[in-house]
This record gives sequence, C-alpha cells and structure tokens, in this order.
Amino acid sequence: MTKISKICCIGAGYVGGPTMAVLALKNTDIQFTIVDVNQQRIDQWNSEDLDNLPVYEPGLAEILTQTRNKNLFFSTEIDQAIKEAQIIFISVNTPTKSYGIGKGYAADLKYIEACTRKIAEVATDDKIIVEKSTLPVRTASTIKEILHYKESSCQFQILSNPEFLAEGTAITDLLNPDRVLIGGDIHTAEGRAAIQSLSEIYEKWVPKDKIISTNIWSSELSKLVANAFLAQRISSINSISALCEATEADVEEVAFAIGKDQRIGEKFLKSSVGFGGSCFQKDILNLVYIARSYNLHEVADYWEQVILLNDYQKVRFFQNIMKQMHGTVSEKKIVLLGWAFKKNTNDTRESAAIDIAKLLIEEQAQLHIFDPKVNEKQIVQDLMMKTNFLQEEILGKIKVYTSINQLFDDAHAVVILTEWDEFVSYDWKSIYQQMEQPSFVFDGRNLLKNNDLNSIGFRYFGIGR
Ligand code: NAD
Ligand code: UGA
Repeated sequence: MTKISKICCIGAGYVGGPTMAVLALKNTDIQFTIVDVNQQRIDQWNSEDLDNLPVYEPGLAEILTQTRNKNLFFSTEIDQAIKEAQIIFISVNTPTKSYGIGKGYAADLKYIEACTRKIAEVATDDKIIVEKSTLPVRTASTIKEILHYKESSCQFQILSNPEFLAEGTAITDLLNPDRVLIGGDIHTAEGRAAIQSLSEIYEKWVPKDKIISTNIWSSELSKLVANAFLAQRISSINSISALCEATEADVEEVAFAIGKDQRIGEKFLKSSVGFGGSCFQKDILNLVYIARSYNLHEVADYWEQVILLNDYQKVRFFQNIMKQMHGTVSEKKIVLLGWAFKKNTNDTRESAAIDIAKLLIEEQAQLHIFDPKVNEKQIVQDLMMKTNFLQEEILGKIKVYTSINQLFDDAHAVVILTEWDEFVSYDWKSIYQQMEQPSFVFDGRNLLKNNDLNSIGFRYFGIGR
C-alpha cells in the first residue's frame, strides 16, 4: 500500500476547513492542503486574525494555531495540490438545483463534476478520491465514468466518506464521532486497500469499532437518510407543538416525557421556529427527487412532508406574532434576536430568521436585528436573495446592530430566532423598561421559558406552550 504523505481537500468551507484541521491535528506526519477557487476565502483562512476566519466554530482557532503552516495549508494552487496528493477529498458545495431538470429538488452536481474533471486533467499518478460532500446515491459511478479515459495512465479508487458533523459543535463532533463511514469497492483488493488507507487516517484517534465500511451506494445513501431522520424528528415535534398550543399541553413537557423512552431518545426533540441550515432541506429534497426518479412516489411524498411541516411551522410562528400584535406590525419597531440558523455558528444558510424577517418586512415592520456572529453585509445579502428588494430598499427597512446598545429602545416586540446563550443572561427587567407597552416577546426557541418574563410584565409567547 502506498504510504500516504500528502492529502488534498478541494473546498475550504464549513466541512473542508474544520475536518481537515482535525485530520491534520491527528496526523502530524501527513501534509494537508485545502484548496479553493475562492481567493478571498483562502486569504481569510490564512489571516493572522483568528477572529475573522470564514467559519466560526468553537475550538477551531486553537486547532489552527497548532496546525496551520505546519502540516495544514490553505491555497488556491489547485493543480499542484491535486498532483502531489495521494488522497483527494472533494468537499465542495452541492446545493439544490435552481434551474432545469430537477429544479428545486435535485442536487446540483456541477461543482463535483468540475473537481472530477480537474483531477482527470492534472493527475499523473494513482489517487484515492474521497467523496466528502453529501451526494445523491450513485454519484460515484459518474465520477468513475469521467475519470475512466485517464485510467490507462493512473488508477483511481473512489470512496464515499460522508461527514456527519453539525455546525457549532463541529470540532467536538470530529474529535468524538459516533461513527466514521467509509464506502468503497469492497469486492476488489484495490478497493479494500483504499478503504484501509483512509481508515488508518481516522484510526489515529477513532476507535476501530466506530469505523464502518460498506458498499459505496449504502454509504452515499446513509448520509441523506441520516439527515432525513434527524429533520423528521424536528418536524414531528413541531407538528405536536401546534397541537399543544391548541390543547394547553406543553411541548417541552411532552418532549421530555417521550424522550425518556430509550427507544425514542432525548435528542432532536427541541421544538423551534423551524429547522434551518444548508443541509436538511437540500438533502431531503434530494432524497425526494431520487425516490420520484425511481417511481417511488409514496416514499417521496412521505419525506417531502418533513419540509412542508417545517415551512408551516415558520408561517405559524409569524401568524401568531400578527395575531397577538392586534393584526398589524406596520411601522412598529420589532427586534430580531439572532440570525444564524443555530447558536455557535456564523452560518445563516436557510435560517428560519430569513423567512420570518421577509414576512415581517412584507407587513411593513421596522426590523432591528442583532446576532453576535452575523454582520450587516450577510443579513442584507440573505434578504436580497429571499426578496426582490434592492440593497438600498432593504437598508431602509432594517437596522443591524453590533451590540445591544439602544437595540430595545421603544421597541414593540422582541422575536428570538437563534438560541444564543447570551440572550438568556440579558437584563430583561431593564429591557422591559426600554420598550413600548405592551411589550411582546415571541420566543422561537423557548429559550427564555425559565426567565419568567410574564411576571416582569411582558406578553411572552413561546412555541407549543
Ligand atoms: P461551503 O459552501 O461552505 O464550501 C464549499 C467550498 O467549495 C466553497 O468555498 C467553494 O468556493 C468551493 N468550491 C466549489 N467548487 C469548487 C471547485 N470546483 N474547486 C475548488 N473549490 C470549489 O459548503 P459546506 O457547508 O462546506 O458543504 C460542503 C459539502 O459538505 C456539501 O455537500 C454539504 O452537503 C456537505 N456537508 C455539510 C455540512 C455542514 O455542516 N455545512 C455537514 C456535513 C456535510
Ligand atoms: C445537521 C446534522 O445534525 C449533521 O449530522 C449533518 O452532518 C449536517 O446537518 C449536514 O449534513 O450538514 P447542522 O445542520 O449543522 O447539522 O445542525 P443541527 O444541529 O442538525 O441543526 C439543524 C437545524 O435544526 C437548526 O436550525 C437547529 O436549530 C434545528 N433543530 C435542531 C431544532 O429545531 N430542534 C432540535 O431538536 C435540533
């Protein structure tokens, strides 16, 4: 088996950056180079200012201090990194297609294909190619086909090694994974050798019994299924939150009670304004598309309902704001606390905050927004993508704060959209004094359920209670 001395990762994003940082930390004898077409992103990864990395993840900056420019490099020299590496991870984005066949459902594989063609173009020796991105089942056959014409001069082994980290906890997830999944060609000696080579990289810190190898199609499909099952639990509890509001049951108590059943388990039963993030929706839509393409319409409908319920939850939350605020928010100052799709990340992709903000803007509310890790540029960009407004128009409807100074002055309502810990420790008595009366708090995360805001005087509304 070839000794692995150089590894390249194409795609310096939320997965490529943290994953390679941890691999480099644990494999000091291997040189890792993360490459990207985005020069600005690479410059940010190389910046001395560790507070300004393109990805905010607790613990990431500390790992970079130990690895960067030692055995971990960030570069735009894609050809060179591919040429030198024995293993190439593909970790580029695979968004939902926004055009043509499969629009709105299928994964757009153009970035995956571009990487594969680049590898075919520049490789001069054998390579192990690892699918790290989340891909539709059977993508490996496409990659193989593209590389086929080159196989007289180099041999390629394709592995699927999906990533299961969650943002905000990426480093602890990578350091203590529930499992590492490696799919490959288990029927040939070369395939098994490639699986072994990749497995050894993880064995530096992951117990062997947590490294699972399967056939490549099972591995590709398992990633989509894992995300679908996780998202399904959130939609399930969110559906019950609506029933709780109608019956005076409390969704937090119901979740606690059912979660104690070990067969159900406690995790992922937190009712919320709706799940966000770059993956749950995209991966379920992709699963739906795949099922439909095999004429499995009942299967497709079943999983699509997870998305429909999530959309319903966001609208339901917005409608409650309108109902409680006497049917109008026009010209009212509404504070949005949180913009990221969950706490401890700066990622805003598919954040429920974007949908809620859009609906409130359509009702002519004046939005005053604060998120500890998201800046004005990002928020404006998110709203431009979601609405048809130009930048100047959006800036006339929102104000973004960098601290909570004056944020609450004369506000009619506070809407909590991300569960940042610091929101709990705010002085809510003082906030109440600063606001218009009656003062409303709509808590899309049930974050302040123990702060007893009603006794301060707020009109407090959580989810499912
Ligand atoms: P991202 O958008 O943060 O990063 C992708 C990077 O790839 C970008 O910087 C982009 O410039 C680069 N890129 C695109 N095409 C390229 C090319 N041809 N050559 C070089 N660079 C190129 O995406 P992400 O969040 O890191 O997700 C990457 C993949 O991992 C997706 O398939 C996603 O579904 C999957 N995934 C994401 C997460 C997560 O938490 N974000 C977790 C597990 C799996
Ligand atoms: C999710 C999965 O948890 C990861 O295993 C997977 O690797 C990743 O998607 C991916 O493929 O991208 P992530 O989206 O980063 O990770 O974060 P989650 O913790 O799963 O949260 C997703 C969304 O669901 C967030 O908006 C969160 O607030 C919401 N959520 C989560 C709830 O509303 N309730 C819960 O109980 C849990």
